[in-house]
Amino acid sequence: MDINTYSTWLEIDLKAIKNNTALIREITGAEVMAVIKANGYGHGARPAAQAAVAGGATWIGVARIEEALSLRRAGISCKLLVLGFTPAAKVPDAIEHNITVALFDPELAQNYLDYVNIHGGTLHAHLKVETGMGRLGMKPEYVASFLGKLKDTGIKVDGIFTHLAKADEPNSDSTPRQLAIFDNLLTDLESKGLKPGNVHAANSAAVLNFPEANYDIVRPGDLLFSAVRHVSHR
Ligand SMILES: Cc1ncc(COP(=O)(O)O)c(C=O)c1O
Repeated sequence: MDINTYSTWLEIDLKAIKNNTALIREITGAEVMAVIKANGYGHGARPAAQAAVAGGATWIGVARIEEALSLRRAGISCKLLVLGFTPAAKVPDAIEHNITVALFDPELAQNYLDYVNIHGGTLHAHLKVETGMGRLGMKPEYVASFLGKLKDTGIKVDGIFTHLAKADEPNSDSTPRQLAIFDNLLTDLESKGLKPGNVHAANSAAVLNFPEANYDIVRPGDLLFSAVRHVSHR
């Protein structure tokens, strides 16, 4: 782009993404999953992911498997989680490129399993639990039997997560309520020997307001980019 003829631009400070990631890791003591959806919210997925990894992110979270595949093609080798819906036909790609998918529905899991059985290998998945966000997620009461059924299959559920609806409201009882539901479920799964590792819940606002939501991994998106400087409308 010729900046002499276009008067508005966005300057991306990749060092800020790197430093923000390192700081989030230090503050939370958790692994960082840098959420780099939608081309890094328009900032460029590859450079943003590289900067986050350089700052210590061990995971990248994306919305769609196409984004994960494109990061793999760009040489990003860290752990990748697709947070949104992955079509069953993409399971072979996920297995071949070591991409973890989100699971939230028994019927979809069965479709995944059919593809795994044809293709061979192991599909890695994190189970998304609905604790009050009102989006995708499995209701807590179904989780234990679902995990029990997937034991010793070609789907390895090595993570469990939820999404917080109002972590930007530190005085609302919404987040404590969601975390209580999530914690009760984790305790129940632990007692049944079904609790996956890699527990996560915290988006950016939770990183800032609810340290009790840190668990094993935190999932900041906005916060990684918060020191990006928006330079000059002239
Ligand atoms: C499941 C999930 N986790 C984490 C994030 C990151 O959220 P934020 O940008 O508020 O940190 C998103 C963003 O959309 C998300 O969908």
